[in-house]
Amino acid sequence: MLKTLSPEKSVEQVEHSLLQVLLERQNANPLNYLSEIDIETIAAEMDLSRSRVYSTASFYSEISLTPRGRHLVRLCGNAPCENAGKQALEDALRGELGIGVDETTEDGFATLENVHCLGACYMSPAMKIDDRIYGNLTPEAAVKILRDLREGE
Ligand code: FES
Repeated sequence: MLKTLSPEKSVEQVEHSLLQVLLERQNANPLNYLSEIDIETIAAEMDLSRSRVYSTASFYSEISLTPRGRHLVRLCGNAPCENAGKQALEDALRGELGIGVDETTEDGFATLENVHCLGACYMSPAMKIDDRIYGNLTPEAAVKILRDLREGE
């Protein structure tokens, strides 16, 4: 989708529009990332410098500049989730997936990431897989969710 920026837009409006475009383009990529070509294309479409687009893309943790798995598994690392057992969830998911944090399974099934609050503090510990949030998790429940997801593919 082509979005042009009018000259009278504020810096904040440009940044917001750019972020939306970056997220849309990333979501359209089955590998959940923005390639060099994506960065250059977006810069040209929005009449921005490549370095401007790149710096915004690299600033936001939601955006990746390297290929990721088909599913993004995100664990909340904020204090309420930490205190409610986040590390046990992470250990279980690392064991199930055979990867560490910020790594992708060899088959491209999933990438495991730690993030800040998912906005689900009332049901700590929480994790988000793609667009869905799961809460009040035990390690066993988190592993079962992943296994069900894999079986459902
Ligand atoms: S602290 Fe974990 S979801 Fe908010």
